[in-house]
Amino acid sequence: MMKRGRFESKESVADASTLRREFLVYFRTRPVYKNLDHREEMPAPLVLRDDPSLLFTNAGMAQYKPYYLGVKAPPFPRLVTCQPCLRTTDVEKVGTTPRHLTFFEMLGNFSFGSKSYFKAQAIFMALEFLTEFLKMDPNRLWVTVFQGDEEVPADEESRDFWREAGIPADRILARGKEDNFWKMGETGPCGPCTEIYYRLTEKALPGDEEKSLEIWNLVFMEYNRRGEGKLERLPERGVDTGMGLERLCAVVNGYTSVFETHLLAPLVQHYLNLFEKKDPKERVKVAQICADHLRAVCFTMAENIRPSNVKHGYVVRRLIRRAVRYGVKMGMSRPFFHTGVNTLVGKSTDMDMTYLPNFRERSYLIWKAIEAEETAFFRTLEVGTRYFEEKISGLREDTLPGEVAFALYDTYGFPLELTIEMAREQGLKVDEEGYQREMERQRERGRRAHRVASEEWAAAGEPRASQFVGYQRLESPAHIQYIRRKNDEIIVALDVTPFYAEAGGQMGDTGEIKSLLTDARIEVLDTRHEMGTILHYGRILNGDVRVGEEVEAKVDGQRRAAIRRAHTATHLLHSALRNLLGEGATQAGSLVGPDLLRFDVHALHPISQEQLEELEQKVNEWIFQNHPVKAEEKSYEEAMASGAVALFGEKYGSTVRVVEVEGISRELCGGTHLDRTHEVGFFKITGEEGVGAGLRRLEAVTGLEALRWVQHSDRILRALSRHLSTPIISLEKKFLEHQRLLEGLRKQVQRWKARTLVESLDHLEKIGNAVGYKELEDVTPKELADVAGLFIRRNPDKAVVLGCVHEKKAYVVVAIGPNLMKEGVSARTIIHEVRDIIQGEGGGQDHFAQAGGKKVDSLSLAIQNAADSLFLQLLGPSPYGGR
Ligand code: SER
Repeated sequence: MMKRGRFESKESVADASTLRREFLVYFRTRPVYKNLDHREEMPAPLVLRDDPSLLFTNAGMAQYKPYYLGVKAPPFPRLVTCQPCLRTTDVEKVGTTPRHLTFFEMLGNFSFGSKSYFKAQAIFMALEFLTEFLKMDPNRLWVTVFQGDEEVPADEESRDFWREAGIPADRILARGKEDNFWKMGETGPCGPCTEIYYRLTEKALPGDEEKSLEIWNLVFMEYNRRGEGKLERLPERGVDTGMGLERLCAVVNGYTSVFETHLLAPLVQHYLNLFEKKDPKERVKVAQICADHLRAVCFTMAENIRPSNVKHGYVVRRLIRRAVRYGVKMGMSRPFFHTGVNTLVGKSTDMDMTYLPNFRERSYLIWKAIEAEETAFFRTLEVGTRYFEEKISGLREDTLPGEVAFALYDTYGFPLELTIEMAREQGLKVDEEGYQREMERQRERGRRAHRVASEEWAAAGEPRASQFVGYQRLESPAHIQYIRRKNDEIIVALDVTPFYAEAGGQMGDTGEIKSLLTDARIEVLDTRHEMGTILHYGRILNGDVRVGEEVEAKVDGQRRAAIRRAHTATHLLHSALRNLLGEGATQAGSLVGPDLLRFDVHALHPISQEQLEELEQKVNEWIFQNHPVKAEEKSYEEAMASGAVALFGEKYGSTVRVVEVEGISRELCGGTHLDRTHEVGFFKITGEEGVGAGLRRLEAVTGLEALRWVQHSDRILRALSRHLSTPIISLEKKFLEHQRLLEGLRKQVQRWKARTLVESLDHLEKIGNAVGYKELEDVTPKELADVAGLFIRRNPDKAVVLGCVHEKKAYVVVAIGPNLMKEGVSARTIIHEVRDIIQGEGGGQDHFAQAGGKKVDSLSLAIQNAADSLFLQLLGPSPYGGR
């Protein structure tokens, strides 16, 4: 028999959607303590935009920090969430252990204030959820508690509660601050915690972390760490728990690694299929790294973050580059990482995931953006490889000097393992000690620089206003007048520059700045207006530059051309929108990138498919009518008198630049445009969505990108057409037919099930000849009612009481055949009598009534009572009085 691969898709006992739902439902409705219901809340965004201490949400409690600190009151004393999180602190471990991920979802229940619950209830509920709800084997669990130190006493209470809950003493281990004292950061709310581990094999001993998976952390927030390390008590204590959904999914399904779950396995398999060389263990490690990083990158980008050199964008960039560098070790020589996006869209079976809809919608743009980033990085790697080859060609001995390995790391971003690998392929060794020495020297330099300047960035020169010449040309000689740097990252200002700095929605240019004196080169990754001048953000590729140095500044012409296409198309779209929707359809914002654009427009209603097609039609007509595009400087008054469109709320100087598409539009705009409209090539709208009250967002592509988009969609259609063996033109019809068919089948199955059930009623318990009763298994309340109805239609001179348990509720139905009905007999009255037994509600008519309640244990009693009562009613009044 063929052995199944670890990452090939397998049946899951419980998928992530189910586990997520079970967790939320448990805490909403069924804690051991009846009065401790939680309120379910939406998770916070992954990307935090205004917390200076945190870039990404890193735990479920992050959004609740003010509630723990007592600076804001919670909306409810008990909350429950499933929170997507990003943590890069352990990024080095990802792929090498079965449990570390940068992106993961955290299930958490939270309690605030002394009137809500604390240690005992948190511990009992956690154990009940795992062992009774999820039916996890309690023998596989072990826990840790805080052992105490001179600052905070040992958490003996938690130990006692675990004992009381049934965890034997030898499975409760004490640990120090490192493990069992949770803190959000260097300052902020914190407290002792108790962690729940699951042993992955029968043989693993409690305490063996390698053979166990830590699944749940219960934190008892009691303290606040202030600046200078001072620990003080919080005004009110609270509970914050966090359980990793991916880890839970792994243990519940009997896997030993998060990468085997359906959330990650298809991606790991995708990358494994791409890597053909190297040893299998390495392949798996790298595929796992790529799978994790892709999820992190995609879900961050779904919140409109793009790779860049600052903040969130920089984290995305680092993750992409990290994955690519590992891919290179697996023999990848062209962009590959982005191809996982399709697998993530297509095979992620987890439909409930918070970020999936956002991501699905933007997946095409995300895919393109990752590809672009990869392409740029592969170019850097290529330059690095050339440097490597140059260096080894002049080598006399069989060892690559440490300085070269360090330069590869420092300037070109090659990790040491990659250099060792490349050297090995050439039969060379690497002087690793020399590399470490260089690294230490660099650190020392860094430490010194750090001591000199209070920030890591060291600056030289003065940022003075620079002259922008980029409307006329893409290359220009210039002098460096200001430099800021940190390692190989550099920011420069020039006296003259052709680089367009991000403005009016148009993205900043990229390109290269080259020294005219030495072979120094800077790759410009972004250009921005800052400090009253134009700043070029980049990386030093080679050598170094000084203030005053003469350089050549050269914009990436292809990218600029693509931006011009998108920008002129944006003006055309704006005009077409105003023609179609009226003058009120004004621009609320825009983003113009290489062959992509986003346009926010004031509009009350969604723009329909027909209207979108009309817009495309109009814009493309204008494109091939080939109107000239001109830009002119004018006084503001003159511009307005000529009917130019200005953006509401925008401030303009006394002289403005007017961009005119002849015969179509005049707009105040500082951007770079085409000379004639036909250069747009082709314009295609790729998305429309609401982004606030009265605001619609359109996304579109131009040039070859538009063709690629059409091809991408076409590929999907063709694949569907193949799968359904139907020509594309009839796909919709076929789909609707399938839906109807499915609906028909569903109904048929229901009827069949009901009929089979009715036949199973041949073996009813009986009281007298006419009354039967039974508890049915595996039926819904609706089916229960259907079966009872069908039964009395077939047996008009009988009556029946049926019951079932469905989704943890008990249901009872009473039905009386028409031939048996006589005055005073009422199913409704019987239901009224028994509904209290199951603590439920219900009612109905004389011949048919039903009830549902939460006391499942009392179901058989309720059925019995209903049957007895039915029998007595049918019997009529006793001749001896009473009944
Ligand atoms: N804040 C704790 C953690 O992140 C529990 O949610 O582990």
